Amino acid sequence: MSKAMWGGRFSKSTDEMINEFQASINFDKRMYHEDIRGSIAHARMLAKCGILTEEDRDKIVKGLEDIEQQIEDGKFDFSVDLEDIHMNIEKRLTEAIGEAGGRLHTARSRNDQVALDTHMYIRRQVTEVQKEIENLQQALVETAEKYSDVIMPGYTHLQRAQPILFAHHLLAYFSMLSRDFARFEGVYRRADIMPLGAGALAGTTFPIDRAYVASQLHFEQIYGNSLDAVSDRDYIMEFLSAASILMVHLSRLSEETILWCSREFHFIELDDAHCTGSSMMPQKKNPDVSELVRGKTGRVIGHLMAMLTTVKGLPLAYNKDLQEDKEGIFDAIDTVKFSLAVYAQLIRGMKVRREVMKKAVTEDFSNATDLADYLVKKGMPFRKAHAVSGAAVHQCIEQGKYLEDMSLKEFQVLSPLFESDIKEAIRPETCVKNRNSYGGTSYEQVSLQLKAAKELLASE
Ligand code: ARG
Repeated sequence: MSKAMWGGRFSKSTDEMINEFQASINFDKRMYHEDIRGSIAHARMLAKCGILTEEDRDKIVKGLEDIEQQIEDGKFDFSVDLEDIHMNIEKRLTEAIGEAGGRLHTARSRNDQVALDTHMYIRRQVTEVQKEIENLQQALVETAEKYSDVIMPGYTHLQRAQPILFAHHLLAYFSMLSRDFARFEGVYRRADIMPLGAGALAGTTFPIDRAYVASQLHFEQIYGNSLDAVSDRDYIMEFLSAASILMVHLSRLSEETILWCSREFHFIELDDAHCTGSSMMPQKKNPDVSELVRGKTGRVIGHLMAMLTTVKGLPLAYNKDLQEDKEGIFDAIDTVKFSLAVYAQLIRGMKVRREVMKKAVTEDFSNATDLADYLVKKGMPFRKAHAVSGAAVHQCIEQGKYLEDMSLKEFQVLSPLFESDIKEAIRPETCVKNRNSYGGTSYEQVSLQLKAAKELLASE
């Protein structure tokens, strides 16, 4: 007879290669804490409902707590022959406490057990990811405050467009991360539903109390349909979606960081401790962190695609395909947490070259909109003002100079509406100051954004 737990019906033991192929212990062992807490709650419920004696319950609880300690002390020998974390722990428990261990799995299947563990694990990880999001948001706020008066070109089409505050740019990422944080809150809510008691698929013949298990494990809700409970992987797909969107945000920030520290932009200097050099070119200082985060974004998106594709054609209820949910989500969790943590460091260590940023604004035409707006405020229709400003730019390009170099006379040839206050109107500081519409780049608006950001962080 096979030595596997389900060996009763089999006359041969599992082929060694097949065993290894189907085992998940090498990756699902990271859910040992959830598995043990779930089993303890289950045993307590069984005893409460008269399905298990109190004596057996106490043996089980004590045995499981000992196993948790052994795992934490690195003294637990995980076996591939026992397939997964659930059977590894159950087998060890039975070895330690005898028959009582064999009663633990009453009214339970690995299908609802694995679902329970994964729900609990994701719930815990969502909270950890949210902490890392906040840490990065904090770093963005600190840096925005540190450089609150720095002006840089804002871009569209990667062409200099209008002067903006560097803090405004950083706070755009703060906003994206706030939405990420909220998205993970939604993931938490969908993971916060208790599947245990669904059995293999159809419920159980025993008089169990699912609400008691849910309350012990602090679940807000209980699955109302056992088939759904064991086959739902929405919360995993949602986690991966939220993680992918978050990584896309970090990837955009990475792209900008990489550009900004290139010699072409030269806007920022990353800390030496956050970069690497080249084995051949002595002058190199490479922004590896940003490149890697940009690269890892592809991996996380890949995990989302893999999960969607895995679930797409699956009939109800449990299918072993679902075991494929784990490696991707575990890797996504590690990647997202690590990327957020290194990014917070990178941002905190970054130095801004304010003069270079300023030069990129002054030695260009990002103030051309302000020139047009000036004429509009003196009564000219915007379309006409746009054309006059365009002509001024054209003239400057031909003469190799900038709008600020034009004399009042030259301006007045283009329109009699120009007066001596035009000089002031097109200074970068004025351009920034005047974009005072709600959410705009003015000093006032950005300081309001900063204030709101700090209030949000304090309330989260
Ligand atoms: N290791 C499995 C998983 O992760 C546990 C559930 C297995 N259930 C079963 N009937 N084979 O999905």
